Amino acid sequence: MTELEKIKESAQYIKSQIGSFKPEIAIVLGSGLGELADEIENPVVLEYKKIPRFPVSTVPGHKGRLVFGKLGGKDIVAMQGRFHTYEGYMMREVVYPIRTFKVLGIENLLLTNAAGCVNASWNAGDLMLITDHIKLASDNPCRGENMDELGPRFFDMSTAYDKSLCALARDVAREKGITLREGVYMLFTGPSFETPAEVRLARILGADAVGMSTVPEAIAASHMGMRTLAFSCLTNMASGILDRKLNHEEVLETGERVKDSFQALVKEVVRRW
Ligand code: HPA
Repeated sequence: MTELEKIKESAQYIKSQIGSFKPEIAIVLGSGLGELADEIENPVVLEYKKIPRFPVSTVPGHKGRLVFGKLGGKDIVAMQGRFHTYEGYMMREVVYPIRTFKVLGIENLLLTNAAGCVNASWNAGDLMLITDHIKLASDNPCRGENMDELGPRFFDMSTAYDKSLCALARDVAREKGITLREGVYMLFTGPSFETPAEVRLARILGADAVGMSTVPEAIAASHMGMRTLAFSCLTNMASGILDRKLNHEEVLETGERVKDSFQALVKEVVRRW
């Protein structure tokens, strides 16, 4: 069975569970941000483990389920719990759900994550619009035989983060009085946090945030011509910026602290998408 055939099998099962419900936007919820799923009206929940061929997530703070329903007046699906390469997955596996969404007819993708703040003039707890990314890791979700049905072998990444959606996010943040930073997200594979030297490297290369997710999904979405918008919650100053150790609890705590403005931002952006 090819990867695409597996994806189609997953999509077929999902269709059989949601009937005529047609989500317009898929939302990926990052560490500490999963509570947004509680805001979804008339939710229909599908556990990843019930979906044939679907991967299962292993991170504390990440559930493993799809939540279908209404948010900001739109029909959406949220991933509560995503996949990361540090769990042992290849990027091809990490983006499996995104490809499944495309096969389900979803053309819009909202990615969120928790990230370390590299920009020393910003603060832990700030939200950041991702306008571009850097991936030095050698894996790529589109490595291997191209899935011609989904997209071309070689594809553009200059509009990976949709410019009009970025403009919408800025408008919504301004109107709501939410400080929205914007900048470049740099992928590190984790699960170790970065070293101070790696964070200095990231800064020199032009990164404003470092994290362990999102980039594979954004690449796969570009491949398939989906419109993507992405936000980071800068949950901590990146390694070495402050004289203290990093830990996952801090990431979750900051996510909890800023969830109200994060949720308000996402909901309104979805409403006006
Ligand atoms: N580095 C990488 N990933 C992260 C961080 C970080 O400092 N914080 C939250 N996710």
